[in-house]
Amino acid sequence: MEKLFGKKNTAVLISGRGSNLKSLIKYSKTKRSLIRIVLVVSNNCSAKGLDYANKSKINNVFIKYSNRKSFEDRLLKLLKRNHVDLICLAGFMKILSGSFIKKYVRPILNIHPSLLPKYKGLNTHKKAIQNKDKYSGATVHIVNEKLDSGKIIIQKKVKILKSDSEKTLEKKVLKIEHKIYPKAINRLLTSD
Ligand code: GAR
Repeated sequence: MEKLFGKKNTAVLISGRGSNLKSLIKYSKTKRSLIRIVLVVSNNCSAKGLDYANKSKINNVFIKYSNRKSFEDRLLKLLKRNHVDLICLAGFMKILSGSFIKKYVRPILNIHPSLLPKYKGLNTHKKAIQNKDKYSGATVHIVNEKLDSGKIIIQKKVKILKSDSEKTLEKKVLKIEHKIYPKAINRLLTSD
């Protein structure tokens, strides 16, 4: 990545609730922020996260996911038009193709609700509880062509209590997600 001169134009991709988007917007408005969110994209027109973008007057676009190629073609055009330097996937529940990742030669980050490489994909909290794990957590990693497998930038653990349900564990993990995503961005953008 080129050396850091000013804030990086960032696009955030979402599919739903958008609590990580909300935390990234909050971070982007702080002094320590190294990003400017210039674009929010959702594949779901009723994603609650779009309200956060609207409230902060951030350009936001719904792209219908009829198929991967049409979605990614439209996305690439938007990224170029908005001079996007960094993409943050924040609860974006679609998989970007290898060809998209090759075409878009800038970092793409993802946040995942488990201690990767454990529990790639869906239902991470359910799996952690079923397997009686002592810890779960969240991971921010670089996106590559394999699902939830790129280089890990930051990871943080939470203890799973006997009394935890999927719901309470999700809540605890989400809380740390909101803390580590901004940290991971700062770490990525200040490393060589
Ligand atoms: C978050 O827990 C995020 O880690 C997860 O979806 C949730 C989105 O919440 N992402 C994935 O599972 C991606 N594989 P949010 O919309 O409130 O940020």
